[in-house]
Amino acid sequence: MPEELFKQGAEAKLYLEDYNGQQCLVKERFPKKYRHPTLDNQITKERMRAESKAVTRCTAAGVRVPKVFQMDLNTRKIHMEYFEKSITAKDFINQQIVVLPEAKCNAALDILCSRIGEGIGKMHKNHIIHGDLTTSNFLIDPKKEDFSDYELVFIDFGLSHYSESVEDKGVDLYVLERALLSTHSNIDDLFPKILKKYEEEYSEESKEVIARFEEVRARGRKRTMIG
Ligand SMILES: Nc1ncnc2c1ncn2[C@@H]1O[C@H](COP(=O)(O)OP(=O)(O)O)[C@@H](O)[C@H]1O
Ligand SMILES: [Mg+2]
Repeated sequence: MPEELFKQGAEAKLYLEDYNGQQCLVKERFPKKYRHPTLDNQITKERMRAESKAVTRCTAAGVRVPKVFQMDLNTRKIHMEYFEKSITAKDFINQQIVVLPEAKCNAALDILCSRIGEGIGKMHKNHIIHGDLTTSNFLIDPKKEDFSDYELVFIDFGLSHYSESVEDKGVDLYVLERALLSTHSNIDDLFPKILKKYEEEYSEESKEVIARFEEVRARGRKRTMIG
């Protein structure tokens, strides 16, 4: 089967391939010309290992992620489960939700935020730091054609790591808040809604993380003011 180029990112190209009679997605990380080859190899391997470890940990934690079928550090390829009908949460928000009548739109956003908060809460409870929480890294996999029912899938774990640190979790949340403010500046309250469910899911310990997140945010503000 000819390879079909699917997406070309900054770090990797994605294409579809047949794997044991099943269509799968290949994520192939290409060398960065500006990096020394030895360092480049090392970084690539770290990212790939991070991705496959996080997938195992997330699955154990009850967070839906693409199954990894095969990983080859030499060819820099990961073969993973392909969600054919899925769209990113970013597109889902912009193309599907905001066109709904106001009440339906709000209800759909509440559900989405709740799912996101639940997923991140489960990750942090299990000390999985995603590292790049943005709405392009959440997939909406429809169970019904019209997306009225769907599964939320977390992807892109190349920057993830295992950490029990409150600071790392706080920063993970801060990255998400920044991403939401810049990508979905037209919609209010996405982050607070996510945080509400996160707190419920992660329970007591999340209070410390949220306090630290607020500190990280204050530090960020100060830095911006100094310029
Ligand atoms: N398993 C998958 N199934 C369907 N689409 C995917 C899958 N993995 C990634 N994608 C799509 O490809 C895009 C880029 O993949 P991602 O892993 O986030 O790489 P990058 O490092 O380039 O951001 C995602 O935003 C999503 O649209
Ligand atoms: Mg991505």
